[in-house]
Amino acid sequence: MEIVNQSFTLDYDYPVIFTAGVFDPVNPVFSRVVNRLESDRRHRLFFVIDENVSRAHPQLHTRIPAYAEARPQELELVCEPLDVVGGEAVKADLRQVLTLVETMNRLGLDRQSFMVIVGGGAVLDAAGFAASIFHRGVRVIRVPSTVLAQSDSGVGVKNGVNLFGKKNFLGAFSPPFAVINDRSLIETLAHRDKIAGIAEAVKVALIRDRPLFEYLEKNASELARGEAEPLHHQIRRSAELHLEHIRSSGDPFEFGSARPLDFGHWSAHKLESMTRSRLRHGEAVAIGMAVDLVYSVRAGFLKRRVLNRVLSLLRNLGLPVWDEALSTTRGGQRVVLEGLTEFREHLGGTLHISLIRDIGDSFEVTEMDDRLLFDSIEWLRHSFGRVGAGVAETELPQ
Ligand SMILES: NC(=O)c1ccc[n+]([C@@H]2O[C@H](COP(=O)([O-])OP(=O)(O)OC[C@H]3O[C@@H](n4cnc5c(N)ncnc54)[C@H](O)[C@@H]3O)[C@@H](O)[C@H]2O)c1
Ligand SMILES: [Zn+2]
Repeated sequence: MEIVNQSFTLDYDYPVIFTAGVFDPVNPVFSRVVNRLESDRRHRLFFVIDENVSRAHPQLHTRIPAYAEARPQELELVCEPLDVVGGEAVKADLRQVLTLVETMNRLGLDRQSFMVIVGGGAVLDAAGFAASIFHRGVRVIRVPSTVLAQSDSGVGVKNGVNLFGKKNFLGAFSPPFAVINDRSLIETLAHRDKIAGIAEAVKVALIRDRPLFEYLEKNASELARGEAEPLHHQIRRSAELHLEHIRSSGDPFEFGSARPLDFGHWSAHKLESMTRSRLRHGEAVAIGMAVDLVYSVRAGFLKRRVLNRVLSLLRNLGLPVWDEALSTTRGGQRVVLEGLTEFREHLGGTLHISLIRDIGDSFEVTEMDDRLLFDSIEWLRHSFGRVGAGVAETELPQ
């Protein structure tokens, strides 16, 4: 036997920039970002825009071409900015990805060309996936347009689309060329989506940053009203914490099974599929965290008062902690529990679920007790569901 060992490392670096009015004629950020590596050539750009962002910011369709025309030595648009379906629908239909790939082929994009994606987490995921498989990957600049995408999904290294009713079943690890968080885009976001996005800040605070949790508590009523300043502060801090985690976890491409950023997500992903996206991702994450927190109290990992504190925060922010879909059964089994099996299949091998011992202090378990989970969901139903609200059948340990 002869073995030739292969080993190399790659460094990735990309800026995450916070600005306002990124396509204002005088804002230099975008052209600086595009020229970041090669300032001596003209760059080809393919713009993909979430249809709901286009609807809310129709001026983008004139501003973006005007921005490029004002810099003819540096920027060339390969076509008019292209609108794509917004929201989870774009991830639920592979034809959306294929259409983008066909368009890139027709436009003759090469591996040095840029796809610039302006949109929510769903559009960033789907268009980003198309960009990562076209010619094995073209450069992507993300311009996230939702609270969730600016603070979490848009700043990370993953993309994906849903298949066979499973979230993110196809996808790739593909760090962006750059991320530009434009605060003026958030203004037009529906109130519900502003609030839903805060769930990921609660998540990252719970697993690694008590001060952010305290900030969210202190500013809960302003945040619940959608006030801009605290909203942007938590976006900034949450983005930093997500970036820090990816950078320092030692496993940015998730080769191992530990997945702390997926706290509350095993049931959240299942709830999103079960409700056919009636629940937003952030709302499902809030409910998923509630399930895992009640479970943690039942399993003796977490103090009851910490659970109360987190549930109060979620509710004060206007996030749900219960949905009737949690009650759905098939063959006597709670359907949501299939989420655990799907999560295990996704990870491969051993199940790894992140839980917390306290605010900012996460740890991993490799199994969850079905009976305790069932009881935890029952407790939530009795406490927050339509039937028997406020009357918990079984007491929780302190
Ligand atoms: N890749 C990752 O690492 C990662 C991480 C977390 C979440 N996600 C994914 O992100 C998705 C959720 O993203 P989201 O919360 O941004 O929701 P979303 O993309 O579904 O957007 C919510 C709605 O707001 C619209 N919209 C977007 N920006 C707008 C704006 N500025 N003004 C008006 N309307 C606007 C969208 O068209 C959509 O209808 C889920 O699919 C989730 O799985 C991915
Ligand atoms: Zn998430």
